[in-house]
Amino acid sequence: MEMPTRSAARAAACVVAVLALTASGLVLADQPKAPNDPTQPIDPWDNPYAMVDGKIDFGTYNGFRRYHASCHVCHGPAGLGSSFAPNLLDPIRERLDYQAFQETVINGRQVEGATGDRVMPPFGLDPNVVEYVPDIWGYLKARADGVLDRGRPDHLAKGALKGRE
Ligand code: HEC
Repeated sequence: MEMPTRSAARAAACVVAVLALTASGLVLADQPKAPNDPTQPIDPWDNPYAMVDGKIDFGTYNGFRRYHASCHVCHGPAGLGSSFAPNLLDPIRERLDYQAFQETVINGRQVEGATGDRVMPPFGLDPNVVEYVPDIWGYLKARADGVLDRGRPDHLAKGALKGRE
C-alpha cells in the first residue's frame, strides 16, 4: 500500500525539524501546482487541500484548528495579520511556497527593527505544530486561494477521502 502523501509530508516536517536542530535543512523539489483536485492524493506541493460539496478535507480543517491554537495570537484571525505579525495570505499568494513556509515555521525568524525585534518563534520543538505543518499550510493556502472564508469551515469526516489524505 502506498503511503498517503500528506501523512508522508507530516513525517517529513518532523524530519526537517530534527535536521534543523543539527544541520541546515533539506532541499525538496518544486512541483507543478494543481490545487483542490479531490481525485488526487492531498499533499502540500501539488494538491494542498480538497473541497467536496462545499466541505473541506479533514486535515485542512485540522489546520484551521491548529492555526487558531498556535498562530492566530500573532498573525490574526484566519491569516489576516495583526499589529504583532504580518498577514500570511499575501505572501502565500505572491512568493511563499511550502518549502519556505515549512522552514520558517520550524526555524523561526528574527528581524531587527528600529523599535526592537519582531520575532517569529521557532516551532521545531512544538509537537502541536510540527506534525501539522502540512495541515496548517493547506488551511492558509485554501484561504489565500479564496476557497475558504474566514469562519470555521464545514468539513468532511476524517478518512472520508479514503486514503488520499
Ligand atoms: C509571537 C508571535 C508569532 C507567532 C505565535 C507566530 N508568528 Fe509567524 N511571524 C511572526 C512575525 C513577527 C513574523 C515576521 C518576521 C519577519 O518580518 O521576518 C512572522 C513571520 C511568519 C512567516 C513568514 C512570512 C513571510 O512573509 O515570509 C510565516 C510563514 C509565519 N510567520 C507562519 C506562522 C505560523 C504558521 C505560525 C503558527 C504555527 C506562526 N507564524 C506563529 C510572529 C509570530
